[in-house]
Amino acid sequence: MSIAIHIDNIRKTLGHREILKGITFDVQTGDIFGYLGPNGAGKTTTIRILLGLLQADSGELNILGQDIRLTGTRIKIGFALDPDGLYNTMTAAENLQYYADIYHVADAGVRIDKVLGLVGLADRAGDWVGAYSKGMRQRLSLARAMVHDPDVLILDEPTAGVDPTGQMEVRKILLDIAHVENKTVLLSSHNLDEVQRICNRIALIDRGEIKLYGELKDLRQKMGRSAVVVDVSSKVSDTVLEQLRKQTQMGFREAGDATLIFEPTGVVEISDIVSFLAASGVKIDKVGRREVSLEELYASILKEVEQ
Ligand SMILES: Nc1ncnc2c1ncn2[C@@H]1O[C@H](COP(=O)(O)OP(=O)(O)O)[C@@H](O)[C@H]1O
Ligand SMILES: [Mg+2]
Repeated sequence: MSIAIHIDNIRKTLGHREILKGITFDVQTGDIFGYLGPNGAGKTTTIRILLGLLQADSGELNILGQDIRLTGTRIKIGFALDPDGLYNTMTAAENLQYYADIYHVADAGVRIDKVLGLVGLADRAGDWVGAYSKGMRQRLSLARAMVHDPDVLILDEPTAGVDPTGQMEVRKILLDIAHVENKTVLLSSHNLDEVQRICNRIALIDRGEIKLYGELKDLRQKMGRSAVVVDVSSKVSDTVLEQLRKQTQMGFREAGDATLIFEPTGVVEISDIVSFLAASGVKIDKVGRREVSLEELYASILKEVEQ
């Protein structure tokens, strides 16, 4: 499987805060990849860096193996961000014509009809975009992203602010874009349920760090297994987290700040984990063996962000 988007150890400080603390993941060709995380986690910042709108402080990235700043790469990428870049005083067709001109799309009229059909707006092509509902706008935004027939689509919260029926329509279009139009899609979302409905692989970002990454069905299976869950009463330092990752026998899995999850191999007892944590100065509230679901893990991350 070839790699469509490669992000390796991207760091970014904005103001005085490190917003991205070494983001690493790959999107494979054909993925509908969900970049999942609560508000403020760093999704938009990552996407802006991916699109070359913001410069990373360090780290490497490429799209389709090429530097994203090259025109030859940009032409292969479609994107939709907030704000959506649509003009209220033009019709849907005029908006698409405008972007088709920018991308030098050949046979623009044919392509515009095609993408309007794809997003279910063929009969509204002549309406002012200013009169569009949020759901219609988001769909037109997808059509705009597809107008030059790119290979890779990068979409920042494509269903944000859309009512439930509109969200279903957008999701259906995203599945069509991936499976019928054969595009690789990276979308960000703060909604686990949405990501589970349409994505095959995910990265979960929390406060600038990737907490889970991989094939969604593998992650779900892993989460379902019995694990040692340690509730802690203080934030575990990055140094200790780094040490835990090195203790492969403990099977440390990434988790929220207040909960550490382990899947130890046979030789490691719960008491070994507790001793290790205590020796590292971690304050432990509760320890037990139980099943943890992806929903539960995500809920615990959301809860911490709210605090
Ligand atoms: N230009 C900026 N200057 C300072 N902080 C910023 C800037 N842009 C974003 N941030 C902060 O970076 C964090 C991540 O933001 P963002 O990437 O927009 O998160 P998400 O898209 O996941 O909601 C937030 O805490 C936000 O306030
Ligand atoms: Mg955002």
